Amino acid sequence: MQQVNLYPFVRSIASYVLPAKLLKRPGSGGTFSSKYCYTVWLRHLVLLSKSGLLKDVSKIKKIAEIGPGDSLGVGIAGLLTGAEEYYAFDVIEHANRERNIQIASELTGYFKERMDLPHKEHEFRNTHPLLDDYSFPSYIFDDSSTIETLEKREQGIKMALSDEESETKIEYVPHWYEKESNLQGELDLIYSQAVMEHVDDVSHAYSRMYDWLKPGGIISHEIDFKTHEMTKEWNGHWYIDKRTWKFLLNGRKYSINRLPFSAHLIEMEKAGFVIKYVLPFQMENAFGDRLPKVPNVNFTKEDMTIASALIQAVKPD
Ligand SMILES: C[S@@+](CC[C@H](N)C(=O)[O-])C[C@H]1O[C@@H](n2cnc3c(N)ncnc32)[C@H](O)[C@@H]1O
Repeated sequence: MQQVNLYPFVRSIASYVLPAKLLKRPGSGGTFSSKYCYTVWLRHLVLLSKSGLLKDVSKIKKIAEIGPGDSLGVGIAGLLTGAEEYYAFDVIEHANRERNIQIASELTGYFKERMDLPHKEHEFRNTHPLLDDYSFPSYIFDDSSTIETLEKREQGIKMALSDEESETKIEYVPHWYEKESNLQGELDLIYSQAVMEHVDDVSHAYSRMYDWLKPGGIISHEIDFKTHEMTKEWNGHWYIDKRTWKFLLNGRKYSINRLPFSAHLIEMEKAGFVIKYVLPFQMENAFGDRLPKVPNVNFTKEDMTIASALIQAVKPD
């Protein structure tokens, strides 16, 4: 037990006296920053291109994001690179209109100057996936991303964010689990960044994604398998018994499912996806051959050192 940090205990005990609304207040991390949104969207695109899944960015017209967090900025970056519809599915309403509009302006500026992907600053030291080259990926974009086109797209995005009639469609669904979506075989790409480790029912989530995508549609998920400050070691959360873990999750805004890399691959394949590309990031396992205590989950030897991974898969034609 000595591996558990003090803070989760304190938070759990506090959750018995504090109102749930206070604990679930908005705020989630990265997408508050337009530079973060820019680097995340382009990192997914660069690696989709590298894996051969993205041949022509102009064909990516309908996109969805799971867990956008503090803003819709990553999707707005997608709309600036040519998508026309963006659906954002979260469990908490973190994002607001003013911030989204501000971020749309900043992102347009970065695309206009074809800025390199931010990665050196302190705030990006934990941002994954890592790339070999962070220069602006001009090879992905043709002449259609001229300044004039970018300004037209920016205007369409701002009108959509302001609920004005627009050719650009943005649909923010903050409590998506409680709502049925009409999307059926329509989307080109669904992505997420640091989210799928928080989804309790990944089997349901990957199946919904499969339904929403058109045949040939792509998923691109960057998943963080680490402990999220619950324990001292990056993978110490896999060694906490079920009851203690349940107690420690009290008071968190959203859960941590503790599933390792291989479990996500299995669930994606069960939903019908074909895995096309993986980019794991490895860290040293301090627990040797000790078996994890996560119930009903088989850990492979490989899982024990995979701290995060980008996984890209397709819905077969
Ligand atoms: C660590 S934040 C990441 C936010 C954003 N993607 C980023 O990179 O900054 C996790 C996000 O996942 C959302 N989330 C948690 N469980 C979810 C679920 N079951 N379905 C969709 N989103 C979920 C949270 O509300 C939050 O917005």
